[in-house]
Amino acid sequence: MPSEMPARLDVPQDGHTHLILAGISGEKFSPSAPSNASVRAREFCEQLERGNILFFAPTPFAFSREKREFLLSQKQTSAAYHKNVAYRPAEDRLTGLAKSDAAEEGRLRAILREYSQEAAQFVGELLSPYKNAVRRDFASYRSVEERERPARLRARNDLPHVDAFPTRPTNGDRILRVFTNLNPNQNRVWLTSETFDVLARRIAGQIGLPARRGNGFAAKSLAAMARALHLPGANRSPYDDFMHRCHNFMKEDETFRESCPKQRWEFPPDSTWMVYTDMVSHAVLEGQFAMEQTFIVSRQAMVLPEKSPIAILEKIAGFPLTNPA
Ligand code: SIN
Ligand code: FE
Repeated sequence: MPSEMPARLDVPQDGHTHLILAGISGEKFSPSAPSNASVRAREFCEQLERGNILFFAPTPFAFSREKREFLLSQKQTSAAYHKNVAYRPAEDRLTGLAKSDAAEEGRLRAILREYSQEAAQFVGELLSPYKNAVRRDFASYRSVEERERPARLRARNDLPHVDAFPTRPTNGDRILRVFTNLNPNQNRVWLTSETFDVLARRIAGQIGLPARRGNGFAAKSLAAMARALHLPGANRSPYDDFMHRCHNFMKEDETFRESCPKQRWEFPPDSTWMVYTDMVSHAVLEGQFAMEQTFIVSRQAMVLPEKSPIAILEKIAGFPLTNPA
């Protein structure tokens, strides 16, 4: 079980992440009575936006034993998945699959498709204040043991970091992720460190704030042209640049790595948790066989807009950091 489990919804916020027991019972989660449902939904959004993790055990949506056994048996017999397999819902396509697994592609794709749909439906019902503001991004199947998993420094997920996608800039929108531990025997072990509201000023002092983009006619025309030509990085706002540099700094700076406060969490078999990974600095230390679905939530839909990383950074910088729509 998680090492620390404050179960109340009114935990004080102090720059650390708390675990909110959002759905714990022998039964599947079901939304509260209609009169309380909207209050409860808003509380869940608030908790996420403050930098807490919503935790559900058992997993609050369907994932059959038969699907899980298929995934686990694949790994045991073919030993073939070397990296996370990603599923792109808009194209109904898998990437990252080893060639030797082509025969299993159809079944694996169907399982990821269903997980992606179930997670989207669950998030839609649970977080109703975000209605019409949630985009379904990629899902992934994480079949590799995370303990001592070899990776380049910047790709290592065992070092606390905030997420930023260099090739899929969000322009200030939020990265919300849902994880499910499929492993029947092993916990998935995470670390969290301080939340972005506390980290931002300190890290900005080290890596520098984003530069102000030119606002004149020439600068705007150049930026528009770069976007029209689909030049690499053309859509990256100063916000996206900063978040990416922040992600790299957190992994690369030895002093930061060593000295940042760390809290350990253990997510048991058949549990699901969701978290804004652009706000919560996180790392995975151990665990094998997890599913994950990423959502991009519009910054306009936040119930605590002043808590979002874009608002925190703009307050520090004193000028806008996003690209015009
Ligand atoms: C990460 O987002 O850094 C990894 C989390 C996980 O795979 O559990
Ligand atoms: Fe991450």
